[in-house]
Amino acid sequence: MILLYFAMYSIPNMAQNNSIAQKVDSLLQLMTLEEKVGQMNQYNGFWDVTGPVPENGNAAMKYEHLKKGWVGSMLNVTGVKNVRKLQQLVVEESRLGIPLLFGQDVIHGYKTLSPIPLAEAASWDMAAIEMSARIAAEEASAVGINWTFAPMVDISRDARWGRVMEGGGEDPYLGMHIARARVKGFQGDDLSKNNTIAACAKHFAGYGFVESGKEYNTVDIGTSTLYNTVLTPFKAAVDAGVKTIMNGFNVLNGVPVTGDFRLQREILKEKWGFDGFVISDWASIGELVPHGFAEDLAQAAEIAAKAGSDMDMESSAYVTQLVELVKTGRVNESLVDDAARRILTVKYELGLFDDPYRYCNEKREKEELNRKEHHAAALEMAKKSIVLLKNEGHLLPIKKDQPKIAVIGELANDNNSPLGSWRLSSDNNSAVTVLEGLKKFSGNITYARGPKIFDPNTNFLDEISPNLTDESGLSEAVALAKTSDIVLMVLGEHGFQSGEARSRTKLGLPGLQLKLLQEVYKVNKNVVLVLLNGRPLTLEWEAKNIPAILETWQLGSQAGNAIAAALFGEINPSGKLPMTFPRNVGQIPIYYNHFSTGRPTLEPNVFWSHYSDVQNEPLFPFGFGLSYTTFAYSDLQIDSSDQNNIKVEVTITNTGDWAGEEVVQLYIHDKVASIVRPVKELKGFQKINLAPKASQKVEFHLTEKELGFYNNAYEFVVEPGTFDIMVGTSSQSGLHGSFTLN
Ligand code: GLC
Repeated sequence: MILLYFAMYSIPNMAQNNSIAQKVDSLLQLMTLEEKVGQMNQYNGFWDVTGPVPENGNAAMKYEHLKKGWVGSMLNVTGVKNVRKLQQLVVEESRLGIPLLFGQDVIHGYKTLSPIPLAEAASWDMAAIEMSARIAAEEASAVGINWTFAPMVDISRDARWGRVMEGGGEDPYLGMHIARARVKGFQGDDLSKNNTIAACAKHFAGYGFVESGKEYNTVDIGTSTLYNTVLTPFKAAVDAGVKTIMNGFNVLNGVPVTGDFRLQREILKEKWGFDGFVISDWASIGELVPHGFAEDLAQAAEIAAKAGSDMDMESSAYVTQLVELVKTGRVNESLVDDAARRILTVKYELGLFDDPYRYCNEKREKEELNRKEHHAAALEMAKKSIVLLKNEGHLLPIKKDQPKIAVIGELANDNNSPLGSWRLSSDNNSAVTVLEGLKKFSGNITYARGPKIFDPNTNFLDEISPNLTDESGLSEAVALAKTSDIVLMVLGEHGFQSGEARSRTKLGLPGLQLKLLQEVYKVNKNVVLVLLNGRPLTLEWEAKNIPAILETWQLGSQAGNAIAAALFGEINPSGKLPMTFPRNVGQIPIYYNHFSTGRPTLEPNVFWSHYSDVQNEPLFPFGFGLSYTTFAYSDLQIDSSDQNNIKVEVTITNTGDWAGEEVVQLYIHDKVASIVRPVKELKGFQKINLAPKASQKVEFHLTEKELGFYNNAYEFVVEPGTFDIMVGTSSQSGLHGSFTLN
């Protein structure tokens, strides 16, 4: 096939010594306008849908366009057989045989699922996060995928927005490190290898700030938040060499980001020097019309092309409008050339011109999926992602000789929800359940489902069934709790209760779960709440009354094994919250790196920044997480003699009886600046492992990278003045010091 390919075409690939840029330019000269526009067109495959399928979307038209070379990429086509079929169609039947890119949302694994990204963020372990993305790339590339629409790097402070499960939480510094780790994991060191895939940092930009947490809603944020919070992980992804960026559905300060020239051309491509390409989100170019930003599809295509959206996902705007727009002079052909050049460059870098079937390897497809090494890594990642929120009276870990353990809650026996909502190509019902995991540790487990809380057949196209009110199962569960020594209440969200199109205004335990917990607690005080959820929940009653709470998110394929290991003390939980847990929805948006305000503290009257019905503090703060052991911080030293490299040192001691990992966190506060700065900003973290009674010095270095910020003119500045420092175990507690920058 490959010989035939070379024999038939004079695609400038033969001159191996030519640079990719030269090859791309030579190829562009051979291409018609229609073919260049074709590279800017992406269709959804005929096997899966992750967005509203347009009425006119049909296979026949897509096949026609594929044969004409009017398609640059397909999404949601997987499996070597399917990919090879479409690649062959294009390579052998279109005039120039330019290979397709095959993209999919490989968000946290393909077949083997690691924890959802928000859970992985809770590990604060960049090496583990990178490995998780690497494994996802190994499996995805084995089924023909050479491009993933990940990492999603949207910072968000609003748990009402269902997609917080997909990102790295509320903090730009942690988000920046996670973005780098994921890009590196997906793209590896050599994009031309058949086990590395192009990554895609998304959604550029601001999607995580949708008003009132409502999905696809408007975003209106100030320049300080845009420049110092929202853009930070995107810039990190670009600096890490991410090959593609996806824009988004939202308006940002009055301009839909898909049509935002300043964002995509001035900042991304010019100021940051991004040399990859921008793909629209699903039909977001066509959606410029309902946004009221374009009269019709033609103007939508014109605006988006000028604004720097290089590829059109599924709106057909480019493939139906752009040729005419160029011919009538409304769009300069140089813009089409630039977009096509960017897209073709990525295809060359992926090695697709050397071998269009590079990712169609039946042997790899047989061997790579669900490998035991992948599941072992997914288990390790899951263990690192678990956060211990409360452990009064050392109820945990469960004593091995605990005579009678009750396990209650439908989620304990649910092998689907732990996969989360972005499982796409993984096998439904393939997760290890909590119950299965527990039974490997103890023979004294008795299970009661309690009231049903979900319709198990719910899938990603459904609205989640309204919280069921049928109480059957409640009395049996309470009876079991009454006669048990310890009760594990496994409660939380259905796997499709968070994720895209899953915004919610109530964040308490859905349905009858709180009532079930309260009835159980009436008859047995030894209750452990095991949370399975895709976002922060409001848990005031639970936090006040339940002695032990373990946040286990949606931990993917190995969920039950990781949770059981933590509950029985095979591992010591080490996760830290990447996102604040509010006391109630009224506090949202709530986040640790807020500004001081002019009335930050308790005045002798009511005229200060507060609510009259709830305290300002969250239920659980950013960076919080307990351990089965305890850690003491001492001897904070700050050396600012080298003003270009402030050294901060602290000693941590494991003062308990368990070996354990601690995420040592460094926060700064730039006390006075030309724009107000947050009362705290994470600017360093290190995850260390300490044996009981052992101590370790940890050192941080603060340079202008950490001390500077973007002003409202988007200039990066470092200003003299006093900086407060806090080094501690969360954003709310640690040792304090300060230094002056001259
Ligand atoms: C979806 C999401 C985006 C995803 C794309 C393709 O609507 O917004 O994150 O990559 O469509 O599935």
